Amino acid sequence: MSEGLEGVIAAQTILSEVDGQAGRLVIRGLSLDEIAGRLAFEDVAHLLFDGFFDDLPDDLRPALGAARAEVFAEVSALDGKLAGLSPIEIVRALTARLADGDDLATALRLLAAPAVFTPAAVRARHGLAPIAPDPGLGHAADILRMLGDQPSAQEAKALDTYLVTACDHGLNASTFAARVVASTRAGLTSAVLAGLGALKGPLHGGAPGPVIEMLDAIGEPGNARPWIEAALARGERLMGFGHRIYRVRDPRADAVKAALARLDAAAPIRPGRLALAEAVETAALAILRERKPDRPLETNLEFYTALLLEALGLPPEAFTCIFACGRTAGWIAHAREQLAGGRLIRPQSVYVGPRPIAA
Ligand code: ACO
Repeated sequence: MSEGLEGVIAAQTILSEVDGQAGRLVIRGLSLDEIAGRLAFEDVAHLLFDGFFDDLPDDLRPALGAARAEVFAEVSALDGKLAGLSPIEIVRALTARLADGDDLATALRLLAAPAVFTPAAVRARHGLAPIAPDPGLGHAADILRMLGDQPSAQEAKALDTYLVTACDHGLNASTFAARVVASTRAGLTSAVLAGLGALKGPLHGGAPGPVIEMLDAIGEPGNARPWIEAALARGERLMGFGHRIYRVRDPRADAVKAALARLDAAAPIRPGRLALAEAVETAALAILRERKPDRPLETNLEFYTALLLEALGLPPEAFTCIFACGRTAGWIAHAREQLAGGRLIRPQSVYVGPRPIAA
């Protein structure tokens, strides 16, 4: 038995490769460096979907814009009771209203869903009415606009870069969950809901919100070391550090950090925030090395994601939903790949409970 299925190969994929020793991510033959900040999210979603839908249009933008407009109808179900839940719970509930199917129309609605439901959820929690999508805009720009502000070109580009960076990542927990459900032939909506459920946890896509709590609690660079040591002494994990596969720095952390630096150069973000983050990162890495010399624990995607999304004006409780906006592209492609060639995923367990008393 492999605890946590570590090292177990459970699928063959043409979608992405995570090289944990070299710190490299390949998406359909292209390195992360070749796509992050260079290709738009719609183009990378197209790359992931290519070959999995016979009717895939050459340009996903118009179809995805139309899908955003279509799923906006579901926002009318966001009543007072639902608005009291967290944004990821709201996105999950509204996504569950979409019909199951395996076709491109279902896929586009699912890709559009978190992009439309997240801004509506954030606004509803503040008692604000939702803003309808603008199908003519790019996906990232429209997400920011639906939150209530007219984004600058640099802000839209920064979010777009993040969505691309988060779009797919081998057989991570949420993608595996999506593939398990897809393998039962339940449909894409069910597979994406499984992905959303797995992503929500703090060990996976729920990590960036707590990164902000950590930075706020630390407050200034000089407090980093004592705060981190006290947190580890309490048995806590440092959010934004460590990874099951990477034994070196997560390349996505650098892609997101570069997007953050470009954003800061265009319009300076909160004074002192980057310096605080860098001090916390340096202290965390040094302390983790001291405490776990045999287990490399490096910065992962979530640390600088938290800073980028904060700089874009998103509340920490919505960070996981924005992760879902990117990763849904990967979940859908993996679900289609699983359907095309995979068998039912059904591993075994070893029974260690009591046995019936022999007659
Ligand atoms: N802070 C402190 N200690 C850690 C951390 C951390 N962030 N990560 C791992 N460790 C320690 C563990 O406590 C464990 O110590 P032990 O052997 O004394 O019990 C050891 O390192 C190995 O940890 P595992 O749990 O075996 O590592 P695993 O591969 O299962 O976990 C995970 C990977 C879940 C990402 C882990 O590193 C973690 O909890 N990180 C913090 C949460 C986080 O940032 N999640 C986002 C991941 S990236 C993504 O999902 C997009």
